[in-house]
Amino acid sequence: MANIVIVGAQWGDEAKGKIVDFLAQDAAMVVRYGGGNNAGHTVTVGSEEYKFHLIPAGILNPNILCVISDGVVVDPGVLVKELSGLKSRGVDFKNLKISASAHVILPYHCLQDDFQESRRGDSAIGTTGRGIGPAYSDKATRIGIRMGEFVDPARFEARLNTVLAEKNALFTKVYGAEPLDAGKILAEYSRYAAELKPYVQDIAGLVFEAAKTPSGVIFEGAQGTLLDLDLGTYPYVTSSHPIAGGACIGTGVGPTMIDAVIGVAKSYTTRVGKGVFPTELDNETGSYIREKGHEYGTTTGRPRRCGWLDIVVLRYSARVNGLSCLSLGHLDVLSGLDSVQIGVGYSTKSGETLDQLPSDLPFRTDIEPIYETLPGWSEDLSAIRSFENLPLNACNYVKRVEELAGIPIGTLSVGPAREQTILFNDVLERTIRKRLS
Ligand code: GDP
Ligand code: IMO
Ligand code: MG
Repeated sequence: MANIVIVGAQWGDEAKGKIVDFLAQDAAMVVRYGGGNNAGHTVTVGSEEYKFHLIPAGILNPNILCVISDGVVVDPGVLVKELSGLKSRGVDFKNLKISASAHVILPYHCLQDDFQESRRGDSAIGTTGRGIGPAYSDKATRIGIRMGEFVDPARFEARLNTVLAEKNALFTKVYGAEPLDAGKILAEYSRYAAELKPYVQDIAGLVFEAAKTPSGVIFEGAQGTLLDLDLGTYPYVTSSHPIAGGACIGTGVGPTMIDAVIGVAKSYTTRVGKGVFPTELDNETGSYIREKGHEYGTTTGRPRRCGWLDIVVLRYSARVNGLSCLSLGHLDVLSGLDSVQIGVGYSTKSGETLDQLPSDLPFRTDIEPIYETLPGWSEDLSAIRSFENLPLNACNYVKRVEELAGIPIGTLSVGPAREQTILFNDVLERTIRKRLS
């Protein structure tokens, strides 16, 4: 009864990994439905911290199936390294499955990503440089190589030779670079293919069967709603579909099988890379949040841009994802500020007030956020385990967010660890129809 999509409600890094790991304790399967190793999902268990880039964040539960689905783009070298990292820490991954239909990221994708970014100059997107855009472009132009072909040596060699001829023409004639050597790529990537082959299979039926069990499937989103190729702040977006609908496309499970969608959001906003960010704080408060929240990229280590919570963004997320409830986190980071602000709308230079996200937001230079200011709190929240024990001003902040966003809050997080999670069981039961112990 509980097939749940976990989706980033902002610009990524909302702590989807933490929530997935938390819910995975009760699920039959966790499936990553999109993106690639541009993602970095952190899970903290006791004193151990894990950073997952491709492997689903449910892998720490040895009893469930973990699937990398069709919608994901897989860099085989990164995946092999991630698996060996887990092995050295004693984590069992015998239950990992990789879709034969997932597309493969090869060295020419990363190179192309770099060349494209350099050419963009001042309008660079600030990609992670992991070859994500070029890999999804190749999929769309139908020259991509899929995992099923990749692990078949003869097919891989034939496909690589064909595609590389085209890529080398691009590199030499457009970018004036040296061509890549097929033999070198084959030698290195054949080793990865041999290592990954046991995990590669057709996964559509597998996810469907797990979705029919009482325990259900957790669909692990990567990136965030505002980074969606169609519904995000284009062109400063990724090349996949992080939104909840992406879970269906990426796994082959129909929309009527999804029971609930949980949107994960921070109590403030962060963004890595370039692009519009109306509530950004390019000042001391922004730095305070960055340092207190350790807001540095899990994948690239880049400092994250920080700002106040933007309710216009949350309302938009609620609408395009059909959010059942919200997992609000990082409340502990806001401790120590005299006052906290919430962006409740945008005002335009012509005197208009917007309470919905305009589709041309990335190009609007006439927009200023409208803020509501609430009193802050100074107490350390990290050891608090119930809503009632939070300082009154923190409670009021959370209630106001819920009211303004118009989405019930199902969980509240006051730190990275599993136990630093406050559950609103009434909301969870109502929205995801399942009691969480
Ligand atoms: P994801 O990509 O959405 O999974 O998020 P990331 O792992 O990239 O970034 C979230 C970061 O916040 C990680 O370092 C988490 O360990 C940390 N984190 C998660 N929840 C909380 C919280 O409630 N408070 C604080 N201070 N940190 C948190
Ligand atoms: P998780 O799953 C935050 C951003 C990049 C860049 C834009 C395009 O950890 O939340 P890409 O390499 O995808 O072509 O870059 O998207 N981006 C993310 N930002 N969290 C992520 O993943 C991201 N994945 C991509 O910074 O702005
Ligand atoms: Mg992340």
